[in-house]
Amino acid sequence: MDRSRADDLLTQVRALRWYHTIDLGGGVVTAGVDDTPYRLSRIGLPADLSGKSVLDIGAWDGFYSFEAERRRASRVVATDFYAWHGAGWGTGKGKAGFELARAALGSRVEDVDVDVMDLSPERVGTFDVVLFLGVLYHVPDPLAALTRVSSVAADMLIIETVVDMIGIRRPAAAFYPGRELNDDPTNWWGPNHAAVHGLLHAVGFTHVRSLTPERSAPYRAARAVWHAMKGKNRLVPAYRQDRAVFHAFKRQ
Ligand SMILES: C[S@@+](CC[C@H](N)C(=O)[O-])C[C@H]1O[C@@H](n2cnc3c(N)ncnc32)[C@H](O)[C@@H]1O
Repeated sequence: MDRSRADDLLTQVRALRWYHTIDLGGGVVTAGVDDTPYRLSRIGLPADLSGKSVLDIGAWDGFYSFEAERRRASRVVATDFYAWHGAGWGTGKGKAGFELARAALGSRVEDVDVDVMDLSPERVGTFDVVLFLGVLYHVPDPLAALTRVSSVAADMLIIETVVDMIGIRRPAAAFYPGRELNDDPTNWWGPNHAAVHGLLHAVGFTHVRSLTPERSAPYRAARAVWHAMKGKNRLVPAYRQDRAVFHAFKRQ
């Protein structure tokens, strides 16, 4: 990318609020509030997606969609709803971040503006790999949402989510009727690992594995004290909460 094009891109990038940290080339990196390269390193995205179709549900600025394309997926579809409609989410300018990044990267990622509750094979098709990253805890009815997600997943689902009620052996979920989680009223449920496994089996995935197993009680206790001291969270919820990644498959 030549200097004047990079300068022009930088001006456009700086005019938006970003969630994802995306390297657009020419030294231009979006100033996302999310440490996206770190989160990418945790989700176990296959290094080679050649010949695979990929659906990215809740794509926001599109980092994972562009990454799937970079890893040679044959087709990538990004979907979202809230973040692409402003109102406190995202750039405040609809899909402007996603569209600017797509143009800057010369990407052919397709986009569909659809609520997860309206996903169906008729609406978007079915996909070899489905990404459901950072969305589960935002939906009021997780079982219904995952039923929709399963309907468009032909084989592999990668799911990343807040988990809560860690240490409780039975499938359980914390309910956030208000702003209990991160002071965000759009957060509803924090399932524990067993509950995520149960939900995924219930909607038709035959094999489920945790990429990020539960951390030990002493680790969680020390981290909870640290988070409470920094004012990031209250002590007891912090002891029970984490983020976790699961891979689920439909195989005989
Ligand atoms: C925490 S962000 C995660 C963004 C991205 N998937 C990631 O992991 O970096 C949550 C995303 O889920 C989307 N979202 C929340 N509820 C949704 C719904 N019912 N249907 C579609 N997208 C939704 C938001 O618009 C937002 O883009």
